[in-house]
Amino acid sequence: MAAVGCRQLLLPVLVVLLCLAGASSATNVTYDHRALVIDGVRRVLVSGSIHYPRSTPDMWPGLMQKAKDGGLDVVETYVFWDIHEPVQGQYDFEGRKDLVRFVKAAADTGLYVHLRIGPYVCAEWNYGGFPLWLHFIPGIKFRTDNEPFKTEMQRFTEKVVATMKGAGLYASQGGPIILSQIENEYGNIDSAYGAAGKSYIRWAAGMAVALDTGVPWVMCQQADAPDPLINTCNGFYCDQFTPNSNSKPKLWTENWSGWFLSFGGAVPYRPTEDLAFAVARFYQRGGTLQNYYMYHGGTNFGRSSGGPFISTSYDYDAPIDEYGLVRQPKWGHLKDVHKAIKQCEPALIATDPSYMSMGQNAEAHVYKAGSVCAAFLANMDTQSDKTVTFNGNAYKLPAWSVSILPDCKNVVLNTAQINSQTTTSEMRSLGSSTKASDGSSIETELALSGWSYAIEPVGITTENALTKPGLMEQINTTADASDFLWYSTSVVVKGGEPYLNGSQSNLLVNSLGHVLQAYINGKFAGSAKGSATSSLISLQTPITLVPGKNKIDLLSGTVGLSNYGAFFDLVGAGITGPVKLSGPKGVLDLSSTDWTYQVGLRGEGLHLYNPSEASPEWVSDKAYPTNQPLIWYKSKFTTPAGDDPVAIDFTGMGKGEAWVNGQSIGRYWPTNLAPQSGCVNSCNYRGPYSSSKCLKKCGQPSQTLYHVPRSFLQPGSNDIVLFEQFGGDPSKISFTTKQTASVCAHVSEDHPDQIDSWISPQQKVQRSGPALRLECPKAGQVISSIKFASFGTPSGTCGNYNHGECSSPQALAVAQEACIGVSSCSVPVSTKNFGDPCTGVTKSLVVEAACS
Ligand code: GAL
Repeated sequence: MAAVGCRQLLLPVLVVLLCLAGASSATNVTYDHRALVIDGVRRVLVSGSIHYPRSTPDMWPGLMQKAKDGGLDVVETYVFWDIHEPVQGQYDFEGRKDLVRFVKAAADTGLYVHLRIGPYVCAEWNYGGFPLWLHFIPGIKFRTDNEPFKTEMQRFTEKVVATMKGAGLYASQGGPIILSQIENEYGNIDSAYGAAGKSYIRWAAGMAVALDTGVPWVMCQQADAPDPLINTCNGFYCDQFTPNSNSKPKLWTENWSGWFLSFGGAVPYRPTEDLAFAVARFYQRGGTLQNYYMYHGGTNFGRSSGGPFISTSYDYDAPIDEYGLVRQPKWGHLKDVHKAIKQCEPALIATDPSYMSMGQNAEAHVYKAGSVCAAFLANMDTQSDKTVTFNGNAYKLPAWSVSILPDCKNVVLNTAQINSQTTTSEMRSLGSSTKASDGSSIETELALSGWSYAIEPVGITTENALTKPGLMEQINTTADASDFLWYSTSVVVKGGEPYLNGSQSNLLVNSLGHVLQAYINGKFAGSAKGSATSSLISLQTPITLVPGKNKIDLLSGTVGLSNYGAFFDLVGAGITGPVKLSGPKGVLDLSSTDWTYQVGLRGEGLHLYNPSEASPEWVSDKAYPTNQPLIWYKSKFTTPAGDDPVAIDFTGMGKGEAWVNGQSIGRYWPTNLAPQSGCVNSCNYRGPYSSSKCLKKCGQPSQTLYHVPRSFLQPGSNDIVLFEQFGGDPSKISFTTKQTASVCAHVSEDHPDQIDSWISPQQKVQRSGPALRLECPKAGQVISSIKFASFGTPSGTCGNYNHGECSSPQALAVAQEACIGVSSCSVPVSTKNFGDPCTGVTKSLVVEAACS
């Protein structure tokens, strides 16, 4: 009896205990007109995008730590439907697709997560993240009030939410996810969908809310986002944005930290001072959460890039570079900006800002409530520095900058004055194989064990090829199972045909893109490519025909499927015609003749990219063919020593795809050059930024270096396979590792105090003046030498400094004394330290150091 009574008593106690445990770790996330409210407290948050499939699971903890160290509170990622459901109903959450592990990596580092489910994501991702099978559902219309589409969208969204809930990852369950997004920038294009677009958005909002995640939902760029969804802003600047209700906070989901790269385009970058200005302006004018798109851009491995023509690198000029190394001074300066904004948090969450004009193009916003006061002073002028008066004090504001005053008096940071260090990096070549006169390859340092090759045959090789009259659109035919589709037909020449001039004719092929090669009787006859601005191709090439039957084989290739715009899913590819032969007396239109189709390459079918599957196709011959189209190459290489990131320099190759140990590192295309013009030597950060404002590498290959994640490598020997489409010489490729060459900083006497010295208005340490800080980028390194030091009026950039007319003779000795042998050092920028080489002149300190 007693025993029974005891058990009866125990069970409810256990239940209560369990509930308490759950309740104590759950976080309540709501919002009001000022901010997200976490456990009853309004928060000022800094967020950054890191997309899990654009790096590898072993990189995730390091990226998260760099995000945390950089002052981020939140990591944002899209969810990429196509990788999770490659076949309808078959889910995959393994490896780089392990979303649960990614979210947990954020939580383990003390970061919140914003999960942007979409499931349309744009993101320069193949087909905007939609799996191709979706396109083939009868009656489907994407992103509108269409039952088949809504059914699939809801099913996948439910799957993601259930997966997150199953792992306890919502804040409401004690997990890190505090925010979630449905759809993506639909407001930019919804007018094209008419009334059905409006009802679709209402449906999407209702569907999301019904999933009961316990955390708020957002819609970005959606002015009519229905309550309770928060409409948010995307852009280079969002300080002017206001949400659609006074009960919603002002959130910025995409602050573009740079821009994406296309094959055939110049490389975009965004100056640090301008990005910092945009961030400060946003918090100045009432914003409380902004997200860098991207904080780490990473790599479009495999065939994941969108487009068309999006490059394999998705570096984005982000604060963490493609390889996972911090990009300086961007990362460090933004870290200082975040610190300064956090110092204002008590005031920012207490009240709305009050606006104060300080003359033309200058304004102050003050957050004052009770004993707290923070102010932002902005000079929006694109040319002139200004001295403004605020609260009776004078403040110097460089053009296009914001000064941050966490106590409404002292400036802790100005967005245009960078104290943080900058670095130069170098790609260290690990040697390559060179080709000797007899065709054999000579290996240097990094043993590449010579190349085997396999010839990809021209035209149809499969027995079950499809023959049909007329030209078929490519994506509908391949379902994107491969980049490639062969179109094959033949013409019989009797002699004297009107499209012939003797044996000569002209072949004309019109294609929706993206690249095209033509073969006549098995021989290469010409090629053409589209571009990111227009993928359309019109190939015209003279050809020679022989009496009797002539084979015409056309290979059409895609380079990433469209990801943006109304009805982007219906933008086709491939040869839709006309295809014609023309001569002086007439034309033969082949557009409606019988064409035979083969999806993909023979080598793809044979899995040549995976050398662990032996294939008799491979030929080992020292005299392997070079600069010929349609060749597979294979070799072995040893893993580079150390832990620095590895890249392959594909200079010497044409266009293709590369695999390391069977894993695709993406498409390579070093022969696709950026236009000659449109670049600037040094980009003026002052004035509104746009994606074409600051470009580099004009006239050069858009991308030569391709990241090979360390986790793709194995100890000892690795397989590398290339499929070369246009022609190249693999003996020219080289392996490199990326490391920091120099660590530099340049700090002026008139910069604000070192930000670390600021604790609170009461506790602020004695005004010490600015300091120059240097820190070795890798754990275990110390500063081994000072390459350059100057106090006075030095000029130049990291790796390339010069003394000015005014220069203290003590600079080098002072820097050496403070920095040599330590992993980080701080040198006060003041005449107390260096003497005064030129009184009455504003001086600065420059130091360039090496770490080892
Ligand atoms: C936005 C979109 C993002 C990304 C970005 C450009 O419009 O929401 O997914 O495509 O543009 O990088």
